[in-house]
Amino acid sequence: MNMYDLIVKKRRGGELTEEEISWMVEGFTKEDIPDYQMSAMMMAICFVGMTKEETKHLTLSMAKSGDMLDLSGIHGIKVDKHSTGGVGDKTSLVLGPLVASLGVPVAKMSGRGLGHTGGTIDKLESFQGFRTDLPTEQFIRNVNTIHIALAGQTANLAPADKKLYALRDVTGTVEQMSLIASSIMSKKLAAGSDAIVLDVKTGDGAFMKTQENAEDLAKEMVDIGKLAGKDICAVVSDMDQPLGYAVGNALEVKEAIATLKGEGPRDLEELVLTLGSQMVYRAKKSDSVESARRKLEGALHNGMAFSKFLEWVEAQGGDIRQAKDVSLLPCAAYQTEVFSFEDGYVENIDTEDIGRIALLLGGGRETKESQIDLSVGLVLRKKKGDPVQKGESIAVIHANDKEKSEKAVQRLLQAYHISANCPEKEPLIKMIIE
Ligand code: URA
Repeated sequence: MNMYDLIVKKRRGGELTEEEISWMVEGFTKEDIPDYQMSAMMMAICFVGMTKEETKHLTLSMAKSGDMLDLSGIHGIKVDKHSTGGVGDKTSLVLGPLVASLGVPVAKMSGRGLGHTGGTIDKLESFQGFRTDLPTEQFIRNVNTIHIALAGQTANLAPADKKLYALRDVTGTVEQMSLIASSIMSKKLAAGSDAIVLDVKTGDGAFMKTQENAEDLAKEMVDIGKLAGKDICAVVSDMDQPLGYAVGNALEVKEAIATLKGEGPRDLEELVLTLGSQMVYRAKKSDSVESARRKLEGALHNGMAFSKFLEWVEAQGGDIRQAKDVSLLPCAAYQTEVFSFEDGYVENIDTEDIGRIALLLGGGRETKESQIDLSVGLVLRKKKGDPVQKGESIAVIHANDKEKSEKAVQRLLQAYHISANCPEKEPLIKMIIE
């Protein structure tokens, strides 16, 4: 078998066999297949697609490319959550400690930023000393003692996906349904949780731009999870505007902390409660989704969720002074208000562009080696449907470079569409697939 033939076969619309896929994944993991050939294969898949069978084989080959974590040492039903990626998506930072505060064992594997979307690991590194490379024994111990641990994908957990994820991030090959499904599910299967709650985003800021594609992706992942014996569901949620107001690593951490104290944006709180009630119910800590939601609402507003957050940050080596006093988190040198040129309502926000503005400011990676700037990003002041007056601020740009800040202001003005008509409200939660 050789990689050249497989690339040409896929480019011509052929279906790769189980044997070919597992040979390719193994060769890429061992570095026998170079990045440039794998990039060509990813691009061919973006154009031609993959069948359900191919997607299943790719998922299983990637899951088996390293260690399958044995989390049987954790007491209780372990739940994991994963988002397909969005702009301003700081859900995991709130959801993890919130659910853990009710005694649900949260054993969470998270990733770094991908394309125009941010990643939980990058955000958590806003806390000095926060470690995401926990050895398995400590990961298990933390879940057993404080009910939550979060780790980045270690070198040995689905290493094929880890390499492929970094490659897709910089080769324009992220937005393909089968690649996203196999990337997410390979990690979830290797990570050993009993239950999985997926947050599948749809809209301009998501990889799946239409609800139909998001539903297909959700169904595909739920099918793969069931096949592997997992208790799994997917929530399809709106990403036609950023979630909450903050976009950028440390800025999102600040907003997450406000939400953990019951003072967060309504959309973020609603999403957290919807996903969280599924997690609590599936962990059998509540006899219905509705009663799980009531308990979670209590924890957000009585201090339990924020206390758990502090406990978690401390257990992973982070500096909790920055959580108690958010002015100690990384902060950019320049803050520039962006003013509207017209009166009306925010009809639409080009959400992928908002994510790209955060990248332009230095909040994401342009190459595999790029270092990210945790302090930069933007905070929206207006969201869809909000009335705006000429000269009123619509957002604040946080930058460390004046030239980049000016470019960001121009792009932000282009990303906002203001019209005389107030747009109809879109539901945040589109559907739940069980
Ligand atoms: N999240 C992942 O882990 N992988 C993807 O491909 C997209 C989102």
